[in-house]
Amino acid sequence: MYYPDDIIEKVRSANDIVDVIGRYVKIQKKGNSYFGLCPFHNEKSPSFSVSQSKQMYHCFGCTAGGNVITFLMQYENLTFQEAVKMLAERAGIELPEPEYSEEAKQKKDRRNRLMEVNKEAAKYFYYQLRAPQGKKGLDYFTERKLSEDTMKQFGLGYANVTSDDLAKYLKTKGFEDDLIIEAGLATFDEKYGLHDKFWNRVMFPIQDVTGKVIGFGGRVMGDAKPKYLNSPDTPVFDKSRNLYGLNFARSSRSKYFILCEGYMDVIAMHQAGFNMAVASLGTAFTAGQANLLRRYAEEVILAYDSDEAGIKAALRAIEILNEVDLTARVLSLEPYKDPDEFIKGLGRDEFMERISRAKNSFFFELEVLSRNYDLNDPESKTKFHNEIAKKLCAFTQEVKRDNYIEAVCDKYGIGPEAMRKLITSYAMKTGDVRPVERPKSGIAPKNAEGEGKRAVQRLFLTWIVDSPGIYQKVKKYVSPEDFTEEIFRKVAEVLFKQIESDSLNPASIISMFDDEESQKTAASVFNERLRSVESRSEKEKAFHDILYSLKKNSYDYYSSKLGSDVDALKQVIDGKKALEEINKIHISLEDEK
Ligand code: GTP
Ligand code: MN
Repeated sequence: MYYPDDIIEKVRSANDIVDVIGRYVKIQKKGNSYFGLCPFHNEKSPSFSVSQSKQMYHCFGCTAGGNVITFLMQYENLTFQEAVKMLAERAGIELPEPEYSEEAKQKKDRRNRLMEVNKEAAKYFYYQLRAPQGKKGLDYFTERKLSEDTMKQFGLGYANVTSDDLAKYLKTKGFEDDLIIEAGLATFDEKYGLHDKFWNRVMFPIQDVTGKVIGFGGRVMGDAKPKYLNSPDTPVFDKSRNLYGLNFARSSRSKYFILCEGYMDVIAMHQAGFNMAVASLGTAFTAGQANLLRRYAEEVILAYDSDEAGIKAALRAIEILNEVDLTARVLSLEPYKDPDEFIKGLGRDEFMERISRAKNSFFFELEVLSRNYDLNDPESKTKFHNEIAKKLCAFTQEVKRDNYIEAVCDKYGIGPEAMRKLITSYAMKTGDVRPVERPKSGIAPKNAEGEGKRAVQRLFLTWIVDSPGIYQKVKKYVSPEDFTEEIFRKVAEVLFKQIESDSLNPASIISMFDDEESQKTAASVFNERLRSVESRSEKEKAFHDILYSLKKNSYDYYSSKLGSDVDALKQVIDGKKALEEINKIHISLEDEK
């Protein structure tokens, strides 16, 4: 872990959650908690609550929740370390320098130097654009309808016509030749010595998610080729894991992001108020970028060029997005070529309209596919329908597949029964009704059964947090080993210990995890919505069910491990006994709130 646990806990407890959240959200005291409008979803009446005693927040509307650290992470879209740093600063706590090996230290120093040289270069380009010699660049951007403010926001610049300008300047600032070369800003040549990579171009600094310049794109101010030059991949610039515009888009608070192809598209979109637009970096969209997007958005709207190349790129992007469980929709920009031109031609409102009409990616795929067939010819049409069946087979969830069958049949005038038969016969041929493809990105798709098991583990823990007294009544049946999800097991372990020592502190548990995914999962434990049941007997029944399911899951899990896991046998024997007992007992919630 990056920072020791006790430091994290010190930082967390030094920042009162009501104080911190109060700076971002208007909250008012009502009873034991503070209430306000949830900053994480749109709402008109307050369902966002902050508890001073628990030092946690929770929204009953959208189920966001966590401690002061996760709040900052969610609100400012920071990483865990960034949020801890910010809070430490706020509370005047000095964080220890993380320990690095000598080699790691050198690597880090080198990275810092590369960041510095990029920053200096960005500054240089920026001033050039505003200097007399940069008039050509400024005219170019102005011609393309960028405002002063927009140019400033994106730090746009200009690289002079002379080809050793920048290198010379950087050397006067104390940067060594090899660093300048490694940053991709210049190359060395026997004949000319050190000379700039970018000259006579308008410059687009590329920033990482925190806003640090990590590379550049440079565009010719006319029709010469290559149109764009991009910095090469360097230790600080990984084109497959960064996105242009993400440093702004990350705090857009939008449920969907707009994915464009070009830098100019992103800039035009932001200028028009679509601050959730991003683009890949001069290369095709990658799985790494999809994963990055998944941290910020639930849905991606593709605004790719409307030409053949754009359509092909969109199809590929859809596949990649689906692999990480992001839904995609595709925007039609007709009759324009790209978002930049569209905005200039039809403006913001019309673009908004196109967003609302963006096509479900599956239908988009079918539509592209249909162009290969002559739907007036029965032979060709049949082939097309077979292709549809094949594609429908890929939906692993039955409800979803059914919904798609219905919608597709409706759209293409196919009888749903005939289509179902076709799917079945196709599935029989391939020997698999639900060919579950292994995702190439290494991320398992969410599956319903697993989710049910996770929900039970979460629910149980939520219940214990809300009414710690119950723990004493059921502790002989339950141990951390019953939680088959690693994160829940860790949470359970600490939670049970805290209850035993009468020092329940759920907010501290969340920050035991330092990556965002685990934190979200851990926080979910404290925010799982308990079914709103009225009477005590219904409540008792509900809790009993949860306890039983938890134990049953655990029993099944260890049963499947018999033979491969030495501890499994004990768990199975104990589990069986516990299940029998649980079946017989009645757990009274009489003393619980
Ligand atoms: P404008 O033509 O100025 O509107 O730029 P654009 O941002 O719309 O670019 P376009 O749609 O032509 O291309 C999309 C993206 O592909 C660009 O933003 C660049 O990242 C990249 N790209 C375009 N042309 C080149 C090229 O010649 N070389 C490289 N390496 N990348 C390019
Ligand atoms: Mn363009």
